[in-house]
Amino acid sequence: MTPAETSARHAALAGEIRRHDHAYYVEARPAISDSEYDRLYRELLDLERDFPALATADSPSQRVGGKPLSAFQSSVHRARMMSLDNTYSQAEVREFVARVQKLLPDETLEWVVEPKVDGLAINLRYEHGLLTVGATRGDGTTGDDITANLKTIRSLPLRLPAAPALMEVRGEVFLAKESFARLNAERVAAGEEPFANPRNAAAGSLKQLDPALVAHRRLGILLYGLGHCEGGEVPTTQVDVLAWLKTLGFKTPERTWFCRSVEELLAAIDELDHLRDQFSYETDGAVIKLNSLALRERVGVTSKAPRWGMAYKYAAEQAETRLNAITIQVGRTGALTPVAELEPVLLAGSTVRRATLHNEDELRRKDIRIGDTVLIEKAGEVIPAVVAVVTSKRTGQEKTFEFPKQCPECGSAVSRASGDDAAVVWRCTNPDCPAQVRGRIEHWCARGAMDIEGGGEVLSAQLVRSGLVHDVADLYKLSLDELSNLERMGEKSAQNFLDGLAASRTRDLWRLLFGLGILHVGAGVAKALGRAFPTLDDVFAASIQQLAEVEDIGDVIAQSLIQWHGDDRNRQLVERLRRAGLNFTSALHNPAAALGPFAGQTFVLTGTLPTMSREQAAAKIEALGGKVSSSVSKKTDYVVAGVEAGSKLEKAQKLGVKIIDEAEFLKLCSVAQ
Ligand code: IVH
Repeated sequence: MTPAETSARHAALAGEIRRHDHAYYVEARPAISDSEYDRLYRELLDLERDFPALATADSPSQRVGGKPLSAFQSSVHRARMMSLDNTYSQAEVREFVARVQKLLPDETLEWVVEPKVDGLAINLRYEHGLLTVGATRGDGTTGDDITANLKTIRSLPLRLPAAPALMEVRGEVFLAKESFARLNAERVAAGEEPFANPRNAAAGSLKQLDPALVAHRRLGILLYGLGHCEGGEVPTTQVDVLAWLKTLGFKTPERTWFCRSVEELLAAIDELDHLRDQFSYETDGAVIKLNSLALRERVGVTSKAPRWGMAYKYAAEQAETRLNAITIQVGRTGALTPVAELEPVLLAGSTVRRATLHNEDELRRKDIRIGDTVLIEKAGEVIPAVVAVVTSKRTGQEKTFEFPKQCPECGSAVSRASGDDAAVVWRCTNPDCPAQVRGRIEHWCARGAMDIEGGGEVLSAQLVRSGLVHDVADLYKLSLDELSNLERMGEKSAQNFLDGLAASRTRDLWRLLFGLGILHVGAGVAKALGRAFPTLDDVFAASIQQLAEVEDIGDVIAQSLIQWHGDDRNRQLVERLRRAGLNFTSALHNPAAALGPFAGQTFVLTGTLPTMSREQAAAKIEALGGKVSSSVSKKTDYVVAGVEAGSKLEKAQKLGVKIIDEAEFLKLCSVAQ
């Protein structure tokens, strides 16, 4: 192809990918299959690899570009970002409308009602149609520049077809209900605290400094307003703003209401309350806005919020009930979780009997006592929680709860880790604690792990109680007789379980790794390990640094793996699993890359390279089987240094690591090819 043909082909591919992203992520109406999409994307990447200049900032390939940041820069919004006054009462909605009418006595007021998305407010800046900055609200004037994280959101256009020279767009980043549930399940499986609600999960995700991690969270974004705009026509009403944003390719609220009176407003709020369950994202209220932007100017703002709008919040469903007892649940990682045993009460459509009290600190902070009347709350996807004690109902008979200093299951000492986020969690120190063993067996058999039918909570408990099983390797010694002698276990179910165990011997490495229940090793991490290493032995032979070089794996996870394998008993467990005939090899490992000419070689990229981005250089290295690391060590084979290379270059000089420039690097690549 001639250069002109190449760039035309690239433009056509980029355009097609943008259209499919829009169809899939904004309209939820995919037009092609995943594999067709992947083919287009691959062709685009290939072209950009050969012609790096094609990879402009708005190319679909740039959604997950860039290395992890060490901190966020600040970004000043061109127009201030305010928030709205809240209310829970219809009477206050009436007062609000009356107030605005009084300020605009001669006007017939028109309103728009929109869903209030439970997420995080953000500001996007487009310059000449290109997304240049995306930032959090911060203090309203200055926020964190989280552009790289926002670019990972596939429904967000990186460039607009026609737009003013400068344009600020306002909206909300959220984690859809489904993604939230999946993320929490993964966190629990990896022994981590689940997020209490989708809003916290979205905020936590956007705070990540590594865009690659953010991309995995699959955040969504919905746009509903404008900030400062110049150099172009902009609409004059909210109805037109929403329509315009939609034609520019943004995702906007799926339902809005146009109202001309308080009665219509209240009806809209009510209708939204009935519909919002069906939305893919969590909503916590309705936002009422004056339709005319000119009238908004006239009513103005107070020091805190605009006078032209208001947020009506739906009450999270709450109920009062008696806390009969506090029990302690011991999980498979030994974590002691206090649980409120409640007088059963109907809440948000289901009967609630128990609610988590999280940890000892939480119990003390809320001063929860046995016998208290407590207020519990549940909204949408949120886990039922004890919000507060109704102290006015105290009789003096309530008893404070002494958090046990021993494991309630096995009587062993409990301890708190220092340092990481687990510091508030007490853990049982006895690895043989029956509760932990039961949890580990159940986790091993779980569908997401070794997928062994029948190995649920009941059977796991029975196997441990009967003394037949002490760890997961014991499962593979079970006989038909032993199993069918268990209570309520017929010969057929026993045989099914044995068949399931036999089938599990050939499961792929990542399932086994996940099944072992190593702290912080969830399914995603296990898969990343499976891609990076050919066998279990290679995983455990890797140094902390080698582990931390694997995509998606940081120091905490690397440390946890090393620590787990440092324990004699765990090493013996691995040997017993090997003898039981379990598969230790990874089908996810890419042998083509491992056999490439750069196999076994580690590169570090630093500074700005003259003709290609660091990501493109990294892609080249990886395609030839090499590894790219973010830090220089004695094990580094080459440091590829560009302009303004800093501390990494110095370190390489100190350690005597070979330093090459881009030209030498490209030569190395062409020799290798
Ligand atoms: S309009 C001047 N519209 O709720 C602020 N906000 O207190 C204009 N939110 O800060 C905001 N959905 O974070 C608006 N459809 C919607 C919204 C919405 C969610 C958030 C936003 C805002 C807060 C209101």
